[in-house]
Amino acid sequence: MKIIDGNKVAITIKEKLSEEIIILKEQGLIPGLAVVIVGKNPASLAYVNSKEKACKKLGIYSERHDLDDSISEEELLHLIHQLNGKESIHGILVQLPLPKHIDTSKVIEAIHPKKDVDGFHPLNVGKVFSGMEGLKPCTPYGIIKLLEFYSIDISGKHTVILGRSNIVGKPAAALLLQKNATVTVCHSKTEGLTEILKTADIVVAAIGQAMFVKKEMIKEGAVVIDVGINRVDDRLVGDVDFEAIKDIASYITPVPGGVGPMTIAMLMYNTVQASKNQFFDAN
Ligand code: GUN
Repeated sequence: MKIIDGNKVAITIKEKLSEEIIILKEQGLIPGLAVVIVGKNPASLAYVNSKEKACKKLGIYSERHDLDDSISEEELLHLIHQLNGKESIHGILVQLPLPKHIDTSKVIEAIHPKKDVDGFHPLNVGKVFSGMEGLKPCTPYGIIKLLEFYSIDISGKHTVILGRSNIVGKPAAALLLQKNATVTVCHSKTEGLTEILKTADIVVAAIGQAMFVKKEMIKEGAVVIDVGINRVDDRLVGDVDFEAIKDIASYITPVPGGVGPMTIAMLMYNTVQASKNQFFDAN
């Protein structure tokens, strides 16, 4: 068994970006990211802080908009329109989830697709599903980068994704399919889940239930990618029973230190991509 070191891969990606950013600055481009957070959800605040810290470290300009959770949908949309028109901002990230009185789809659709560094806008979602160039969602993209870094074969492999969220499960299916995996997407209504999982060469667990994936569900030698981040007794655990599975998996991601750091690295990557697309198209 080999542990996939997400911190190491993320650092490698960020080091390359930092060199690229130095060159872009010489050409007059400073990549810029706006991070919008509504309310004070502790998990969201922690994510947003990490994203800001990563920007600072890499020399990406970042501005943060902390909004009260009483803000109206109209006011939030107004801010997004302002950021869409701001030349120093190349990426806009609205941390999810949003309060119930705000229509998340409306907010995502308001972000200019060229600035949609989360890859959540329907245009970018469509591009991912059509195999076209575009901004790809950070977590699934990070998973692909992890597999590639460890030279893990994707082509022809049966990949079972647990979870069908718009942020992870669905786009992960599209990206893995693009890499010629045979993809099965399972979810809470799936019948015979254990039997299906048992046939997987690669498992991507993204259902948000602590240690849901048990040893009996995993084939010997499978690659196990754990996207879960669950807080249990003040400890972070994934969607996979890591201790039980690590001895039968060929590769496995830990939590923390697996997929998590990749999400931020790919957000930085997308911000740099978006800035280049906007700057060099306009000049
Ligand atoms: N909430 C949980 N994951 C994400 C993410 O990748 N992007 C945003 N914007 N919000 C999230």
